[in-house]
Amino acid sequence: MKKELIVAIDGPSSAGKSTVGKLLAKRLGYIYIDTGAMYRAMGWKAVRDGINLEDGRAIARFCDETMVDLSLNAGGKSHVLVDGIDVTEAIRTPEMSMMASAISAKQPVRERLVELQRSLGEKGGVVLEGRDVGTVIFPNAGAKFYLDADVRERGRRRWEEMRSKGETVDLEETIEAIRRRDHNDMNRDHSPLKKADDAVLIDSTGLSVDEVIEKMAMVVRERHGDPACR
Ligand code: DC
Repeated sequence: MKKELIVAIDGPSSAGKSTVGKLLAKRLGYIYIDTGAMYRAMGWKAVRDGINLEDGRAIARFCDETMVDLSLNAGGKSHVLVDGIDVTEAIRTPEMSMMASAISAKQPVRERLVELQRSLGEKGGVVLEGRDVGTVIFPNAGAKFYLDADVRERGRRRWEEMRSKGETVDLEETIEAIRRRDHNDMNRDHSPLKKADDAVLIDSTGLSVDEVIEKMAMVVRERHGDPACR
């Protein structure tokens, strides 16, 4: 039997990686892995415990003492656990977005999570999304995408998502927060966000979710010939 692929989706915040990643995984019968959720979980615990991100020793100890897990519940929804605590909902706030971005710049945190991400995905049959999937975690992934969109459109999508959850947010502030996070993620020393040379660039500005998935499925089909993608 043909080995199932590793599909990598990288790109900046709110480009639609989770939405299309989940749907593409479903279509292929693959597992979906949200690597950003793991940085968020580490960030959540660091806030709870008042960890000083500038204290290298404290960060190293923190990494040694922290267990991050992804689990699927009976309905197939994935949950993120840190030291056994389910933080799936708690990590989805603007503060946790910024904290995840800050803690993800720390090399011991990256080493810890990259090891975990490799162990979860190495057998294939997975769609992973994040910032360094195609460049660092799985440079040999069978299909790589860099999903981008205009920053204002990304901001508007995030703003609408938050409003639909009943949160009162300002559009311009949301766009500005995304700009700041892009800047952090693209300019850090370790594994900055960038397009892998062999990643297929998809600009989703003005495209529907279905159109993006269609493009991705076409590439996966070319690489794999998997009838599930047809
Ligand atoms: O995808 P997300 O917005 O949930 O990710 C939160 C932060 O985690 C993001 O701003 C940068 C970091 N991250 C990372 O450095 N590497 C990854 N593979 C995924 C996320």
